[in-house]
Amino acid sequence: MNSNRRTVLAAACLAAFAFNVPAFAAKPLVIGFSQVGAESEWRTANTVSIKDAAKKEGVTLKFADAQQKQENQVKAIRSFIAQRVDLIAFSPVVESGWDTVLREAKAAKIPVILTDRAVNVSDPSLYATFLGSDFVEEGRRAGRWLLERAKKTPDAAINIVELQGTVGSAPALDRKKGFDEVIAANPKLKVIRSQTGDFTRAKGKEVMEAFLKAEGKKINVLYAHNDDMAIGAIQAIEEAGMKPGKDIVVISIDGVKGAFEAMIAGKLNVTVECNPLLGPQLMQLARDVVANKPVPKRVVTQESVFPAEVAAKEFPNRKY
Ligand code: AHR
Repeated sequence: MNSNRRTVLAAACLAAFAFNVPAFAAKPLVIGFSQVGAESEWRTANTVSIKDAAKKEGVTLKFADAQQKQENQVKAIRSFIAQRVDLIAFSPVVESGWDTVLREAKAAKIPVILTDRAVNVSDPSLYATFLGSDFVEEGRRAGRWLLERAKKTPDAAINIVELQGTVGSAPALDRKKGFDEVIAANPKLKVIRSQTGDFTRAKGKEVMEAFLKAEGKKINVLYAHNDDMAIGAIQAIEEAGMKPGKDIVVISIDGVKGAFEAMIAGKLNVTVECNPLLGPQLMQLARDVVANKPVPKRVVTQESVFPAEVAAKEFPNRKY
């Protein structure tokens, strides 16, 4: 080492000692995150949680919004690989079609964490861990609430219309599966129409209008795979001259503030919680994965169910 470099090194060590910081502070962790989009109140809260947690933890976050398109997510992941980020995290729009790009990440030795939604891949070593809700259980919780409610009218046939989430997405597939599985216990409960509303308010309203046109007063229950679609549908029900929450029982999933407001107004009967505040857990998992520490393959978010009766009391505690 020449004398100039030695002097610079000595000065750095001296400064570090004087200010009580490590002489060679660790370089910040760089995470590439590909988000589904901004389709719902839930998604907005999820994005804020991830950005805030990264900032708080001193993580450099490269954030890409896929606008609900898988091809945009594939492009974003390839660009993160090219930029040599430390870790890639993403919430997959749909479940299938990820093998190739995840193999590319593995070949580049960049670990991947799934957040919120799962993928369907042949090789589970293509991702390190999956952090998110149990969507099948959320569907079951919605179904169980309805089974209980149906006990009030044991002889009546109950016609259900269903607003599904994005076609091929894990929450749409799983919430349908869990709900169907539970309501099968009561033959009086029948899903008479089921269509996607793509997790958005606008689509939820549009599809509910079509359901109302086709089935009118035959509809007893609406099961929406998220709150935003339920809120859009509530508008459609009101415009059709009916009372949401009374003429048509409304069940949804997420537990966003908008759903609590609708419950307090008597227009929504129950929301099953799906927690979007995944940022802090994601940052911790990312640090552990990059440091080669063992992490569980699956981290399930803890959630509950909020019927309209508890909405006013719970509303002040809601964080999203
Ligand atoms: O993947 C979670 C789901 O995606 C939420 O329930 C929904 O609101 C969002 O768009």
